[in-house]
Amino acid sequence: EKGGYDHFMLKEIFEQPQTIYDSFRGRLDVEHNTIALSGLDSIKDKLMEARRIIIVACGTSWHAGLLAEYIIEELCRVNVEVEYASEFRYRNPIITSEDVIIAISQSGETADTLVALENAKKQGATIFGLVNVVGSSIARISDAGAYTHAGPEIGVASTKAFTAQLAVLQLFALKLAKLKNTISEERYVHLLHELNAVPQKVQWILDNELENIKTIATKYKDANDFLYLGRGYNFPIALEGALKLKEISYIHAEGYPAAEMKHGPIALVDSTLPVVFIATKDSYHEKIVSNMQEIKARKGRLIAVASMGDTTTLELAEDTMIVPAADEIIAPLLSVIPMQLLAYYIGIERDLDVDKPRNLAKSVTVE
Ligand code: M6R
Repeated sequence: EKGGYDHFMLKEIFEQPQTIYDSFRGRLDVEHNTIALSGLDSIKDKLMEARRIIIVACGTSWHAGLLAEYIIEELCRVNVEVEYASEFRYRNPIITSEDVIIAISQSGETADTLVALENAKKQGATIFGLVNVVGSSIARISDAGAYTHAGPEIGVASTKAFTAQLAVLQLFALKLAKLKNTISEERYVHLLHELNAVPQKVQWILDNELENIKTIATKYKDANDFLYLGRGYNFPIALEGALKLKEISYIHAEGYPAAEMKHGPIALVDSTLPVVFIATKDSYHEKIVSNMQEIKARKGRLIAVASMGDTTTLELAEDTMIVPAADEIIAPLLSVIPMQLLAYYIGIERDLDVDKPRNLAKSVTVE
């Protein structure tokens, strides 16, 4: 059942070229430059007139939501808020019939997300569900939606469900931008082709970076803490990298926006602290290079996720994980793969049960 892999987590990491492809199949058409998402069509008028989009989720699904905020605001020029379902449901938020809620959930059964949606629905909001488990409670309560086609995810740590969420959210943002006419034809077509190339780029990482990441895992497996830093589209990936490491290796890790480090966390940096930078080539690159230099000057152990061909980062970092170059909006779908693998191999090095970490449940159906 593990298909020859030692663990479900590794199997699911390796399934990603296929599951991302499956989430595009029948939707992304690069011959005609179209995106089919019938769930979006069915609430098109609501979306076009929406005062704002509120994304509600927990955990890894919340990280997908955070990235969606950046992308939807950039491409569609509509206000987006991202909320932890547990906070949203209790804090008496202002919701009207002009709000569209995107609920993101792998299981479709997360209690806090479900109740947050019930409340929002009572107040007249339209619910779009982005769910993996077909027929689940969140899928049923949604007015419209799109399934992620990741297949059953057994490992408690979410991997392939996360990239499937990102894949569909990218389609959602691009399609909405096209409808709203907030994107140029050229950028739209470019991003469609960039998305189409993601499965093969993920495959490249799996084919080429495994031994390197295993070596990095062995080297840092005894660290007490890790810091994960990213800017812009890669900030949610820093949070996700830190969450994966906490869950799988029980090493304390924090994700931060790289520039926030000066406002506190930099006090932690010494020669024992591994600091992982998600530093793929994007419009923030110069800024993140100077953040890396600041860590290096304080003798932090610099580990970077870098784009192929980026010699600046390669020379600066003590250890580097390479991902193929991609448009900055698409790059997080690639930069998260080394984060998943690093957490997995550190967990293995520490002899832990990576598929069933202590204290965690696959779906959190009680609050
Ligand atoms: O099923 P959901 O997507 O609603 O679950 C949300 C979180 O419980 C989940 O992502 C959790 O954070 C995972 N253990 C992350 O790996």
